[in-house]
Amino acid sequence: MYVKCLRLNNFRNYDNEEIEFSDSFNIIYGENAQGKTNILESIFICASGRSHRTNRDADLIKFGRQGYAVNLQVNRKDKETLIQVIYKKDGKKSVKINDIPVKKIGNLMGHLNVVMFSPEDLLIIKEGPSERRRFLDITISQLKPSYFYDLQQYAKIITQRNTLLKEIENKKGLLDTLEIWNNNIVKTGARIIKTRRNFVNKLSKIAEEKHRKITNGTENLRLKYACSFNIENCESTEEIEKEFEKALEKVYESELKRCTTLVGPQRDDCEILLNGMNIKLYGSQGQQRSAVLSMKLSEIDIMKEDTGESPILLLDDVMSELDSSRQEYLFESIKSIQTFITCTEKSFFEGKVPEKSSKFFRVKNGKIL
Ligand SMILES: Nc1ncnc2c1ncn2[C@@H]1O[C@H](COP(=O)(O)OP(=O)(O)OP(=O)(O)O)[C@@H](O)[C@H]1O
Ligand SMILES: [Mg+2]
Repeated sequence: MYVKCLRLNNFRNYDNEEIEFSDSFNIIYGENAQGKTNILESIFICASGRSHRTNRDADLIKFGRQGYAVNLQVNRKDKETLIQVIYKKDGKKSVKINDIPVKKIGNLMGHLNVVMFSPEDLLIIKEGPSERRRFLDITISQLKPSYFYDLQQYAKIITQRNTLLKEIENKKGLLDTLEIWNNNIVKTGARIIKTRRNFVNKLSKIAEEKHRKITNGTENLRLKYACSFNIENCESTEEIEKEFEKALEKVYESELKRCTTLVGPQRDDCEILLNGMNIKLYGSQGQQRSAVLSMKLSEIDIMKEDTGESPILLLDDVMSELDSSRQEYLFESIKSIQTFITCTEKSFFEGKVPEKSSKFFRVKNGKIL
């Protein structure tokens, strides 16, 4: 698949801008703070319904304006799709596919698949479990809309269950209702856990192989889903449900004391191991960066396998941070997929990307020159 055309209205520092892309390399260059990442961000929103760097849609509206709109034309093997994301200051967000409004943001998933690789992705390794869950959730949601619904549903029930735990402190009579909420989180939660574990296992296999190549066989990269309760012996969703129930029983007293849900997918993590050790604690900066590169390239492979088409790749400022052999490996891996690259120096890519099929865009102060 590839993105043919992008139209922005009052998005970040853009007024009205229309851009036609190459189906191969698109190099977006310019000085700092001119609007390069904003372009990648707008494309990302059309794939996942949200920004990669903020959860607040209001941040995306050009200062002083009333709303923003992003229009994106996507071409794939058998069809053309027009994706529109429109947000108004009063908080209303609407998404249209081929001019038809979709009822839920989840229906947007699957029309455009993107893999984004930016310097902030290092946080997947450096930060706490929530960054890793976010990485898993964003990627899996693009592939499986039902997973996205489960996540939304689960977030709602957890909030309600936590409110109930707080209320029980004063009204012991409410204790009986806790069981109803337990049934709800166990069912939805077990589905989320199973899907995440499958994905992590798949990702681990592919990333291990890629990483071995990137590091000339010197490093072994492995990923493992770390559930907040023991699921080692669970195969089916039902078996995970049973363990989830047991885990809730175990933490019953503590939950009542702390008024919050202590086990479940909202507490899980994904371990990233380099040569058997936690990469967060033992990996050098370069090793961590290479591990993220292996994971991102594996994400591309999984998307291709799942959807039958290559996703598009958004590379924000990452090329210059890789050494030349890693750059070469990256170029080799992405030859046949549409790629958007931001950088400050155009010259960095001249001669490195095929001249005929690549397009260069200079960005200055919210304008494409
Ligand atoms: N809602 C908004 N309205 C207007 N301008 C905005 C808005 N949000 C961000 N900006 C401006 O957009 C610019 C940043 O754009 P962007 O992040 O795309 O820069 P960049 O070209 O990628 O820079 P760098 O090379 O530093 O990464 C900043 O000047 C910022 O003030
Ligand atoms: Mg930027």
